[in-house]
Amino acid sequence: MEIKTASGDIDLNDATLVIGIMTDNVPAPGAEQAALAVDPQLVDLAIFEGKAGQVLVVPHEQAVALIMVGLGDEATFDSVRAAMGNAVRAVKTERAVTTLHQIPIDDATRAVVEGAALGGYQHRVYKTEGEALKIRVLELVDADHAEIALATVLTDATNLARDWVNTPALDKAPEALAAMIRGAAEAVGVAVEIWDEDRIAEEKLGAVIGVAAGSERPPRVVVLEYQPEEATAHLGLVGKGIVFDTGGLSIKTGTFMEEMKDDMSGAAIVAVATIAVARLGLPVRITTVIPITDNAIGGNATRPGDVLRPVAGPTIEVLNTDAEGRLILADGLGVVRRYEPDLIVDVATLTGAARVALGDKIAAVFGSDSDVAASVLAAASRAGEHFWELPLFQDYKKSLESDVADLKNISGSRYGGAITAAVFLAQYAGEGKWAHLDIAGPARSRETAGEQVKGASGVGVRTLVELARGLVEQPKP
Ligand code: BES
Ligand code: MN
Ligand code: ZN
Repeated sequence: MEIKTASGDIDLNDATLVIGIMTDNVPAPGAEQAALAVDPQLVDLAIFEGKAGQVLVVPHEQAVALIMVGLGDEATFDSVRAAMGNAVRAVKTERAVTTLHQIPIDDATRAVVEGAALGGYQHRVYKTEGEALKIRVLELVDADHAEIALATVLTDATNLARDWVNTPALDKAPEALAAMIRGAAEAVGVAVEIWDEDRIAEEKLGAVIGVAAGSERPPRVVVLEYQPEEATAHLGLVGKGIVFDTGGLSIKTGTFMEEMKDDMSGAAIVAVATIAVARLGLPVRITTVIPITDNAIGGNATRPGDVLRPVAGPTIEVLNTDAEGRLILADGLGVVRRYEPDLIVDVATLTGAARVALGDKIAAVFGSDSDVAASVLAAASRAGEHFWELPLFQDYKKSLESDVADLKNISGSRYGGAITAAVFLAQYAGEGKWAHLDIAGPARSRETAGEQVKGASGVGVRTLVELARGLVEQPKP
């Protein structure tokens, strides 16, 4: 969908007009004129109340149709974004025009663009039936061009991550996913290195090798480097790239395996966030390390009780092969640390426990200190994504002591699993600033509503870009 600004005499002949309505039928700013052109009786008959989530399509004198979206009592960034997401799916013309961004809230234009571009997302690569959404162009009346451009970079990145995550594991072998990342990164001038299985062995990434051992499809490690000359900060990113998580020999049962093509969400998110920062030309250096592998079963698969040697840090007794994310992240963290970034952030669909704790719509953040966590939470809030801090409670480290190696990869308790996983990762993150984002809950959206579309959510992309923006923001005089 192309999203642009329009001004002057706007021809509505072939278009759908989208306007916002507040509770009790009060038109949102910019909507008055359009609302007057609607037969008030129609509105009355339909008992449209302007409640958040309501959508009403009615005939209109000049346009093909008028779509009224409810904003509730008080419009917010979230309600405007959600309303626009609902609206785009109701548009039956190729062209739509809106005034919704004229509502006086912060970042209204961004809310409208995000709602439209994210809510209008479809993954139809494997569909031969059904119809794609009609809308091709959305015009924002008298909007700020730069705000549209920024939001477009963010939504392009989010939707690209969604595409990769929604791709079946069959079609994203480590080699193939690495190639997808390479294509997208090189297109924006980000330097790409792909380590194959030989290089991974040379580099002694023993944990990646151990997780990959059960698969016919060899692992890859992608290293992305965005190095603007004027960089004033250096961010290191690591993403979990398990293209399919069977659990390995500690195999997953029943429905627990169904959604495990999502298990490379962290990889997708850190890759597209790096690409978005490059597209925006932000003066922040980014080094992104992405270990990519299957977690499969096979004659050579790592067994419970085997010990792995990550490139740096404690040796690991693997007692449960389904706790594989923390293994490849141990190597990923070990590699990214060599570049000495000011801040390291890893992103992973790491634990079912994070989903149990916070549900499907909130991601967990852990920080090496409270300032780091606070800066992620602040970035998430600016980005309109939902994160909640969980504690990096060092006392739980005891539960990771192994009889045969330095650490074991599970705590042995069902409780506090998101925290013990984070405490495990902390052993590999080094002494510097580090944040861990566990997105196991919200990586997938279970409903189509507002800007969310059933399937991969792309959550984390906008928070990472905001975090990068925050790193270089000049303090206000
Ligand atoms: N990829 C899963 C975590 C996950 C679960 C992501 C549900 C998304 C939805 C991870 O590799 C895993 O299997 N974790 C185990 C760890 C356990 C064995 C300590 C889990 O959470 O059950
Ligand atoms: Mn697993
Ligand atoms: Zn996993």
